[in-house]
Amino acid sequence: MVKKIGVLTGGGDCPGLNAVLRAIVKTAVLKYGCEVTGYRDGYRGLVLNNFIKLTPEDVSGILDKGGTILGTSNRDNPFRFEIKRDGRTEYADMSDSVAKNLEMFGIDCLIAAGGDGTLSIAAALARKGVKLVGVPKTIDNDLSATDMTFGFMTAVETATEAIDKLHSTAESHHRVMLLEVMGRNAGWIALEAGIAGGADVILIPEIRYDIHKVAQKILERKNAGKHFSIVVVAEGAGLVPGTCSRAADPEAEAMPQDEKQVWSGQPLHSGCISARISGELEKLTGIETRVTVLGHLQRGGRPSPFDRILSTRFGVAAVDLALRERFGYMVSLIGDSVGEVSLEEATANIKTVPSNGELVRIAKSLGVGFGDDNGF
Ligand code: F6P
Repeated sequence: MVKKIGVLTGGGDCPGLNAVLRAIVKTAVLKYGCEVTGYRDGYRGLVLNNFIKLTPEDVSGILDKGGTILGTSNRDNPFRFEIKRDGRTEYADMSDSVAKNLEMFGIDCLIAAGGDGTLSIAAALARKGVKLVGVPKTIDNDLSATDMTFGFMTAVETATEAIDKLHSTAESHHRVMLLEVMGRNAGWIALEAGIAGGADVILIPEIRYDIHKVAQKILERKNAGKHFSIVVVAEGAGLVPGTCSRAADPEAEAMPQDEKQVWSGQPLHSGCISARISGELEKLTGIETRVTVLGHLQRGGRPSPFDRILSTRFGVAAVDLALRERFGYMVSLIGDSVGEVSLEEATANIKTVPSNGELVRIAKSLGVGFGDDNGF
């Protein structure tokens, strides 16, 4: 019988995390008479037993607030926990002590709200027998087992507003404006905000682009009397090897460092790729080009009504799942309904943009360039 629920928020924050915490605490306490313990800073709090009691009063007034009152971390993994000793960094597997800690403090079920990284750790803890339930969140919308994650729509809204604002200044100055948005492995934000904001070119990780084709698109617009262009670039957008203008240089046959990092899945500081692309485009088109990196603005601020509703639905459903003892499962949006999928299934693959999917095809029908060969 579940009487005491633990909760943590892990990974990069996103709008809607406080709304999900509010829904979890209110449902657990008011509907089921449970107690709730909140772990601070994601899995770090779980390893270090850093927690607080959460009551409905504690979560009152946070529905519309960005961030997470519990704090989060996208570095701390109990299976490879960083420990500083005598000025050196070591890593230790703390997963057994996490399981023991939960037992010691009488937590009957842990709810972990996070993206791919947090939920993969949750799946691994569940394999060790930890009783937990997952809640999907990420601005990237790249979890395959749910039609939508909360945080995504707010990020799309923020990026769309940025495109709207860039349009007017791009037009006044006859410039190419590059907007870099988040999305290391999946281009959903770039694609949806690009369509919503009427971008001329959208570059996403799933479609390898040729910089010459991007330049050609911009020049075609110029020849048609449009002296400005808006290019939306996902931070993980890559190039078709050998087509970078640097490839003219025999020394540059090797991939640029930022591309190598993206291809090998290493973290890349935002701004790298768009800074390089803008230089190349300026050289190829002769049109003045400027870069805006939207960065963490996409993760901050008030959740949109859609995200408040989705996170509230997920929070209530997660507590229902915990009380039904459906451990090892994650709540998910399937069509119009909130259902459940196993954490194993949920973390098997990430959801990337199908390069010939409906959204890409409709964008191409409107003349949006992706820097590839297939116009339509
Ligand atoms: O996973 C969410 C995300 O926002 C990615 O789109 C982005 O690449 C990453 O987090 C940035 O993380 P950090 O906060 O470590 O810069």
